[in-house]
Amino acid sequence: MAEMKSMGVVGSGQMGSGIAQLGAMHGLDVWLIDSNPEALARASKSISSSIQRLVSKGQLSQAAGSSAMGHLRCTENLEELCSADVIIEAIVESEDVKRKLFLELDKIAKSSAILASNTSSISITRLAAATGRPHQVIGMHFMNPPPIMKLVEIVRGADTSDETFNATKALAERFGKTVICSQDYSGFIVNRILMPMINEAFLTLYTGVATKEDIDTGMKLGTNHPMGPLELADFIGLDVCLSIMKVLHAGLGDSKYAPCPLLVQYVDAGRLGRKRGIGVYDYRKVSEPPKA
Ligand code: NAI
Repeated sequence: MAEMKSMGVVGSGQMGSGIAQLGAMHGLDVWLIDSNPEALARASKSISSSIQRLVSKGQLSQAAGSSAMGHLRCTENLEELCSADVIIEAIVESEDVKRKLFLELDKIAKSSAILASNTSSISITRLAAATGRPHQVIGMHFMNPPPIMKLVEIVRGADTSDETFNATKALAERFGKTVICSQDYSGFIVNRILMPMINEAFLTLYTGVATKEDIDTGMKLGTNHPMGPLELADFIGLDVCLSIMKVLHAGLGDSKYAPCPLLVQYVDAGRLGRKRGIGVYDYRKVSEPPKA
């Protein structure tokens, strides 16, 4: 497959905005799409300030920063993706909503386009089955935040072709990422291991074993993790963590994956983590995670 020139990203939240930034910084023409105009405005602002930060730290020249911003366009109109070589979906972690989007993308995208999902846990095979091009559907799972984190986990659905896999791997490597490859089972590699740990941290808090600060400090200083699991959950988004636990529970069929009731309650209360200003910790005022 020829080198990719244009990319669509659907969903301009924490992940989609970071993926769009990566594409624009690596010379792709990027369309960033969201159904919510406020999310698009936030994304455009956050990409611009992230690029400005790189310029002020000397990690990117002013000319490269301006060129990246020139490669980026934001819109609510999905039809703009008709000429994209690759479309990366980064919308809400819900199989129903993602399947509807893949159905639509299949109609809009040119026949050679790859349709990739940044899903954390949902079956690529089932998303692919919503389209007429299952061999061109693949999981391209970036880590948060995409411009910084070095890993991309590529997930092959049952029908993903070698050509699609190779083109996706080449794109991730063009972005400077290290690639790992997972078969299509719930949670893939990273979240199958990470999310039960985060869920266990919630259970440790829920059952009164320790305070949130001690749980996070214990895991930071005791296992040399850069963030404690509860702090990390706030960073990821508690809604995203809960959705992944539900996928693991349903897909792997073991009660050990049942989401902790406290995680469920926080999400019900709208305590979604940093993006809402409150999750396990309250970022609007004093109780920040402990600095180790
Ligand atoms: P987010 O909540 O920050 O952003 C989701 C965006 O999608 C919102 O702006 C929303 O308006 C938009 N959206 C929802 N439905 C849409 C539709 N039908 N069409 C267009 N836009 C739509 O979510 P986040 O954290 O960026 O997650 C996105 C995806 O990336 C999820 O599948 C998640 O599991 C995955 N992911 C999340 C990570 C994290 O640390 N938060 C890490 C790796 C993957």
